[in-house]
Amino acid sequence: MGAKPGLHLGLMSGTSLDGVDAALVETDGERVARPGASLTLPYDAGLRTRLRALLDRADALARDDAELAEAERALTDRHAEAVAALLGEAGVAAGDVVALGFHGQTILHRPERRLTWQIGDAARLARAAGTPVVHDFRAADVAAGGQGAPFAPLWHAALAGALERPVAVLNLGGVGNVTWIGADGTVIACDTGPGNGPLDDWVAARAGVPFDDGGRITATGTVSVAVLARLMAHPFFAAPPPKSLDRLDFAAAIAGSELASLSIADGAATLAAFTAASVAAVRAHLPEAPRRWLVTGGGRHNPAIMTALGAALGVAVDPVEAVGWDGDAMEAQAFAYLAARSLRGLPLSLPTTTGVPRPMPGGRLAKPI
Ligand SMILES: Nc1ncnc2c1ncn2[C@@H]1O[C@H](COP(=O)(O)OP(=O)(O)O)[C@@H](O)[C@H]1O
Ligand SMILES: [Mg+2]
Repeated sequence: MGAKPGLHLGLMSGTSLDGVDAALVETDGERVARPGASLTLPYDAGLRTRLRALLDRADALARDDAELAEAERALTDRHAEAVAALLGEAGVAAGDVVALGFHGQTILHRPERRLTWQIGDAARLARAAGTPVVHDFRAADVAAGGQGAPFAPLWHAALAGALERPVAVLNLGGVGNVTWIGADGTVIACDTGPGNGPLDDWVAARAGVPFDDGGRITATGTVSVAVLARLMAHPFFAAPPPKSLDRLDFAAAIAGSELASLSIADGAATLAAFTAASVAAVRAHLPEAPRRWLVTGGGRHNPAIMTALGAALGVAVDPVEAVGWDGDAMEAQAFAYLAARSLRGLPLSLPTTTGVPRPMPGGRLAKPI
């Protein structure tokens, strides 16, 4: 049984800590999936630094930590600003939105301990926006033994309806994740390895910039084959899906490699090649090689990464814009779609996307008072 499609607003702030993406989707949480307006509000340097500090000590962070509470408030208020800005731009009244899908900021992801932690105050956001808020999307999956990630695959599959298959949708955020959609509609997903995270950290440490704009540093470097081989020896790549990653899962491997002895450009080129090689490695775990890779997320803005991917995969690699999607909005759209699914009690994840034992509904609802 279908439900009447309504407007849902998704909010995503990924592991890159670059800002909040907000997107409107008209959807019934099933077949109707019409993307609408979207925008990104960046985090200011102060909020980014505070979130990064929390992420770095998340393993030992107390739930009543004062800095946590303060960062959570600032983060929530930035999300409320994104909602107001998007509704203003789109000319939509808050009362016409069925619900917001509020992902929150992941500061810790340890599915093997049945733990995934997204910060953000849903009740505060619901009050500020005057709209019901669906949040805590990943908790039920992880509690049931799933990886709790990736969570965009059902949205990717909803969008991919008419495309030639098998097709792979590759999202390159702080970490990478892939959705494989087979000819019979089977959806298989997992994290692939690093996305932009290690490269962002590398250029931040060496050049004091948050990312390698336009891939300009990366493009002038030469890949260190020895360091790349060392990084690819990480056991994550040989393991079959389901599997997921924390933002900092490769930090120790990178620190233990000889990356630090490379120039900034050679290190950047090696990390871009690491991202591409880890995507290529996931093919061994898929039932059939994708005919085409559609790339979404910030990584598609880095031509050096796109070139490395083309070389590593040897088939068509295109930004999702090639099929009319918006790669800056897709993850936010996913959480609009998942909010609609949550309200209807539909599964948000599947055994083939997160390894959860059965199709798993999830999300919690906060109402504006
Ligand atoms: N113009 C650009 N040139 C190079 N890299 C870019 C550009 N724009 C975005 N990126 C990369 O994309 C990242 C943000 O990607 P995003 O998909 O928002 O990730 P997340 O979902 O983790 O927030 C940035 O940190 C940066 O590494
Ligand atoms: Mg982002």
